[in-house]
Amino acid sequence: MLSDRYGNAVSTKSQAALDRFNDALELVRLYRGDPIAALDAAIAEDGAFVNAWAVRAGVLAQQTDKLYADEVERSLRAGAAAAEHANERERGLLAAALDFHEGRYHDGVVRYARIAHEHPRDVFAVQSAHVGCFFVGRQQDLRDGPLQALRAFKRGEDGYGVLLGMAAFGFEECGDYTRAEAYGREAVEIDGRDGWAVHAVAHVHEMRGDVDRGIPWLRDSAGVWAPESAFAYHNWWHLALLHLDRGEIAEVLRLYDEKVRPAPSDVMLEWVDAAALLWRLRLEGVDVATRFAPLAESMARAAEDGVYAFNDLHCVMAFIGAGREGDVARTLEAMRKTARIGDGDNAEMTRAVGLPLAEAFVAFEAGRFGECVEKIAAVRGIAQRFGGSHAQRDILTLTALHAAIRGGMEATAEALAAERLTHKPTSPWAASFAAKVAAMRGTRVAA
Ligand SMILES: [Fe+2]
Repeated sequence: MLSDRYGNAVSTKSQAALDRFNDALELVRLYRGDPIAALDAAIAEDGAFVNAWAVRAGVLAQQTDKLYADEVERSLRAGAAAAEHANERERGLLAAALDFHEGRYHDGVVRYARIAHEHPRDVFAVQSAHVGCFFVGRQQDLRDGPLQALRAFKRGEDGYGVLLGMAAFGFEECGDYTRAEAYGREAVEIDGRDGWAVHAVAHVHEMRGDVDRGIPWLRDSAGVWAPESAFAYHNWWHLALLHLDRGEIAEVLRLYDEKVRPAPSDVMLEWVDAAALLWRLRLEGVDVATRFAPLAESMARAAEDGVYAFNDLHCVMAFIGAGREGDVARTLEAMRKTARIGDGDNAEMTRAVGLPLAEAFVAFEAGRFGECVEKIAAVRGIAQRFGGSHAQRDILTLTALHAAIRGGMEATAEALAAERLTHKPTSPWAASFAAKVAAMRGTRVAA
């Protein structure tokens, strides 16, 4: 019986198919190149290679985009048709991908995690659970899944480094920045192309507001992690955030134009980052309407998808930024419908977090700053339930802070600014908020 690069038994009898599959596994774990093409090459050698179909379905289902629904279904059908020749692990991978595809994100995470318990050397299962945890805010699982799998690896074995990188991100999301940085740096030393590990350390710098270490960390290593990375836009986004923290607007715009969204794309996760960066710039008073316009044009196709509330909120930001009131209304209506009659995890995410936030952002745009602050405050502490990272969800705090300042809510503004400066003591942006709020207070006292 043949085994994949990590030692997991696979059902194919074709060495050629397995070789292509092993290539794909490396691309998947590094978010590089075109893993679907590599999987298709494996499938071309053996059309009944269930593990390859299951990974194909899983990777596409993790894009949180309806665009890939047909291809996910085709992969699941082909995998199911050959499932009698598959082993239990491979059949489990198919079932987990189906869970994700049908919006049962938590079930999918649990299923991938169960596979990883039995087969800790199935790095794809560990990674898929990890990605799923990210989408639904299971922060401790994000950390503990890769830690559990590390028991099956010796230092330096194939796959060991990417598990370190995943654990690093999990530590970071759980607030353990010291271990996050140590694990992330070790992973990057093993393979500098590991953009996820690079990213975990970038998050540490972001959370600490340590722009002086964060900028060189990303900028000076980009020549290694960026080429051929399907994830590069997100690390560039992080670099842009750090420059934004310093108030270096021209550099932020350059990074947006050249790296985050250099050309119209059809990548949902890239749209999300683009919208989030432009929204932050807009909050700071930078005119980015001409950049929002083409982004919103792309995102219009996803306005009523009802796939993932986190994406929906970013659609709302882009539509507001581009002045597309009809699309804002269309998205809100679709979210309300999902919240009212939808089922599955996204309905719950929409009800509990996505919809109140979308309404808060609309209120901000309408100048109803009190309503904006109130709605964000109501869900900010549980907002991990609709996924994203602390750094991504910082947009909630920033929007509330700007609303509080613009709405003259001095106590709220002061509280949020103080909180930020405590978390990020060396952040110029945090200091500038604190100064703004002090000036507000000073003005009132003087008056
Ligand atoms: Fe990130």
